[in-house]
Amino acid sequence: MKAIVVKPGSPGVSLTDRKSPPKKDGLVTLTPRLVGICGTDREIISAYYGQAPPGEELLTIGHESLCAVSDPGSSGLKEGQLVIPTVRRSCGACWSCLHGQSDMCFTGNYTERGIKGLDGYNSESVVESMDYIAPVPDGIGDFAVLTEPMTIGEKAITQSLNLQKRVEWAWNCNDGLSCKKALVLGTGPVGLLAALIAKVRGFRVWAADRHGADTERALLLKSAGVEHIDSQTTSLTDYASSIGQFDMIVEATGDAAVGLDMIPSLGPNGIIALTGIPGGSQVYQMPAVQIMRSIVLRNLVVVGIVNANLSYFRDALNDMVSIEKKYPGVLAKMVTHRFAPEEFAAAYSEKGADVVKVTIDWTK
Ligand code: BGC
Repeated sequence: MKAIVVKPGSPGVSLTDRKSPPKKDGLVTLTPRLVGICGTDREIISAYYGQAPPGEELLTIGHESLCAVSDPGSSGLKEGQLVIPTVRRSCGACWSCLHGQSDMCFTGNYTERGIKGLDGYNSESVVESMDYIAPVPDGIGDFAVLTEPMTIGEKAITQSLNLQKRVEWAWNCNDGLSCKKALVLGTGPVGLLAALIAKVRGFRVWAADRHGADTERALLLKSAGVEHIDSQTTSLTDYASSIGQFDMIVEATGDAAVGLDMIPSLGPNGIIALTGIPGGSQVYQMPAVQIMRSIVLRNLVVVGIVNANLSYFRDALNDMVSIEKKYPGVLAKMVTHRFAPEEFAAAYSEKGADVVKVTIDWTK
């Protein structure tokens, strides 16, 4: 079968022929339809990250996918049904992994599809256990390929709401969360989707990036009632002071300076969820005293968010239904590019202010 692979340790990516995964009792056979591309894939291609399965030289990449069931086995799924397989697999030993929460693994010995020790989804066929598969609800189209990046916002916002139970009397406005001000930093797919989740959960939402108000991303946000801030022309810290500080910030830029600099812009008892994974080893000068003073004097929470277990995939798919109902068409517009597997080189180098989610289309 065709597969898009890297050789971890050496930069580069290619389309090659690989053996189809053997069918096994109890496993579901899936045919990938669309596979999304993100910064982690680019890091793997640049050989900064990524690990081949044990005993293999090559790693099939791609961890964001929308698949169709080709052989349901005894899973109860139907042939042709659309599903989303998750990314991380249990280490088999720690309490989190044994409780279906490998996203909170303690040992670090987890594996990740298309990233760490397990082949990913950019191939003509994959097999998977039902324990790691979320069915796509009716009415959700190809934009379900956005599920995996959306799970990051789901986990960030769900965990923030759980952590804010420490001040639950103040996080319960008369009509839900409309008195709470949420800022999303970054308008890549993770940021845009987090902004939409915050919106359907009832927050008043702002999203900031370094672009003007006329990009596809800013227009998408506007159509869902999210206020856009261009941080090149507006100081985010001044803006925060002018509106009386934010209650929740979701960082989705991967830029350490942007995330940490915004901590003093949280109001009392606020929370910031950091989701970006900065690369490199750059040393920044930071207002460390001001940051630590704000964290302590305002009882702030800083929480790191990585990966997502099956429950967040289900939440993402449910929120997609709500978003599609409230803001029809907005999710579909986020899938801006589809490349055939043979066009992988163009796919992995596509970028720009109007590029949102680039995908490999295995139906082409
Ligand atoms: C993926 C996560 C993964 C993380 C670290 C991200 O791009 O979305 O599922 O845990 O990379 O490998």
